[in-house]
Amino acid sequence: MNFKLETNHNIVFFTGAGMSAESGVPTYRGSGGIWNEYKWEEYACESAFQKNPNHVLSFHELRRIEALKCKPHSGHLIIKKIQDKYQNTTIITQNIDGMHQRADNQNVIELHGSLWKIRCQADGKKFEDLENGPYANRYCDCGEILRPDIVWFQDMLDEKIIKKTISTISRCLLFISIGTSASVWPAAGFPKLARESGAYCIEINPEKTELSSMYDEVIREKAGKGLELFLRGLLS
Ligand code: OAD
Repeated sequence: MNFKLETNHNIVFFTGAGMSAESGVPTYRGSGGIWNEYKWEEYACESAFQKNPNHVLSFHELRRIEALKCKPHSGHLIIKKIQDKYQNTTIITQNIDGMHQRADNQNVIELHGSLWKIRCQADGKKFEDLENGPYANRYCDCGEILRPDIVWFQDMLDEKIIKKTISTISRCLLFISIGTSASVWPAAGFPKLARESGAYCIEINPEKTELSSMYDEVIREKAGKGLELFLRGLLS
């Protein structure tokens, strides 16, 4: 990096499914990707839920069970270490598995919601749902069936979360993207926002992505090793 980072500077880690891959959580695209095995039209959209709620809920139930079998890896712990020193560090994640929180990472913005929250589509009420299921047959006081608080295909992102994300990224000096294919909008636009706002941008990903050429620095490694190299650079 060609600048000295002060402990009060703003840092953003922008994470996607590749961040959780070394924990054992499958990614969405590429080999072993969830959307190769499951059609999102049947499992991850409001119309599928309206048609057959139990079908959709059991898919998410399975994802919770699988996520609970996984543990944070060394990369999550490195983020924690960095956050202990640089307190204005925010994690903006597309992941819904709660792995950052389990690693005690702080200031986590969940862009796409969480497997561990449920909400009412009718009145917008949200509930923490930290127990491992069952999702099925749970109703809001208003009578509506509760659904996972996840941004499914064709859903809008929460406006407050978008605003907070944009303002955090616009103010950051260092932006590190880890393990995202940058193919889902609006999240795919955030690295460019960081760049246009003047942040130094780093990509950690073993594969090239659509956005690789816009980064100041690319670390072609998996998240754990990539973060280890990044930390070494930060401390040198
Ligand atoms: P993708 O599955 O689209 O992309 C995963 C990225 O992680 C790819 O670029 C891989 O090269 C990279 N990768 C794989 N293993 C890695 C590792 N060990 N370390 C670092 N990188 C690795 O996942 P996302 O970009 O997160 O939406 O997908 C975005 C959204 O699409 C998800 O949030 C999800 C999905 O539909 C919701 O759940 C709402």
